[in-house]
Amino acid sequence: MTLRWSLTTTDGAARAGTLHTAHGEVPTPVFMPVGTAGTVKAMTADAVRSTGARMVLGNTYHLMLRPGAERVARLGGLHRLMDWRGPILTDSGGFQVMSLTDLRKMDADGVTFRSHVDGSYHRLTPERSVEIQHLLGADVTMCFDECTPFPATHAQAADSMRLSMRWAARCREAFVPRDGHGLFGIVQGSTFDDLRAESVAALSGIGFEGYAIGGLAVGEGQSEMFRVLDATTPLLPEDAPRYLMGVGTPADLIGAVRRGVDMFDCVIPTRSGRTGRAYTSRGVLNLRNARHAEDPSPLDPDCDCPACTRHSRAYLHHLIKAEEMLGPMLLTWHNIRYYQTLMARLRRAIVEGRFEAEAAAIEAVWAEGEA
Ligand code: GUN
Ligand code: ZN
Repeated sequence: MTLRWSLTTTDGAARAGTLHTAHGEVPTPVFMPVGTAGTVKAMTADAVRSTGARMVLGNTYHLMLRPGAERVARLGGLHRLMDWRGPILTDSGGFQVMSLTDLRKMDADGVTFRSHVDGSYHRLTPERSVEIQHLLGADVTMCFDECTPFPATHAQAADSMRLSMRWAARCREAFVPRDGHGLFGIVQGSTFDDLRAESVAALSGIGFEGYAIGGLAVGEGQSEMFRVLDATTPLLPEDAPRYLMGVGTPADLIGAVRRGVDMFDCVIPTRSGRTGRAYTSRGVLNLRNARHAEDPSPLDPDCDCPACTRHSRAYLHHLIKAEEMLGPMLLTWHNIRYYQTLMARLRRAIVEGRFEAEAAAIEAVWAEGEA
């Protein structure tokens, strides 16, 4: 059987469930750390697993350019290559082509672009994107789509969404079903409710193992993103997982879980860890700040990660200031652990029927700003 998702409980619109994949079960809501180029930057696979993360994301775009999809397949697939035993979801490449390349040409069939690595020319189509994701060994393959740029007129958003829907049908055709593996469609339509509804209808007509919501967190702001989710998630099939792509801050995740989203990925915990920003139970703080220079207290007294149990804020401040590699390593570890703890708290609260109380308590911390 292909990949499935089972519902455990709902609390309001929030859902607790389990994703059943070829590489194990994943409790949802889930946050997937981003492992763009075959590594969650600054972390070993064991370290990622020890944070509680059960599923990671990889990128078609980066891996097709370096080391190459066929090479990854010859080396035993992405799981073997990066020594990640859990499930992997791969993004399809279109979003990264648009955000990372300076030269690209899109047509009805696909997109031709110049590599940001060496300037060489490459082409992605729905069929090639799905083939690459098979070569990588993805548990969850994402449809090849266009992330509609923001802002867009209604006409631009409609053309872009309808192109993505034609590509979604081609991805469904190209996808080779295997036990515990699945293909997710991606809802587009920018900030227009009628286009989001049309996109949901097109995708659910084709039928996918899961439904992603794309084209958000692209500059529209949190309240507009929540408004689009309010208009979209009630239309999606209730028995399939919903994945909000590229989101977000802790407050974004809580608001999206409240609206019925099950899966997330974002570079925020990893990228901000590398620049000295830490997400903690007391709020966000910047370890570059001189006020931490002689502070012997732990980064987050409520956290059980190595950065918090073995080191002081003063040491973390020093590592970041001195540009020592261990600084980004420890802060990435901490931030991923914080995100995993957050999702586990939300899931448990849903199961115990007290989601709103738990969400409000965590939101109060994030409303205060700098810790
Ligand atoms: N990552 C963030 N947003 C998107 C999107 O709309 N499409 C894809 N494929 N990836 C994304
Ligand atoms: Zn910590």
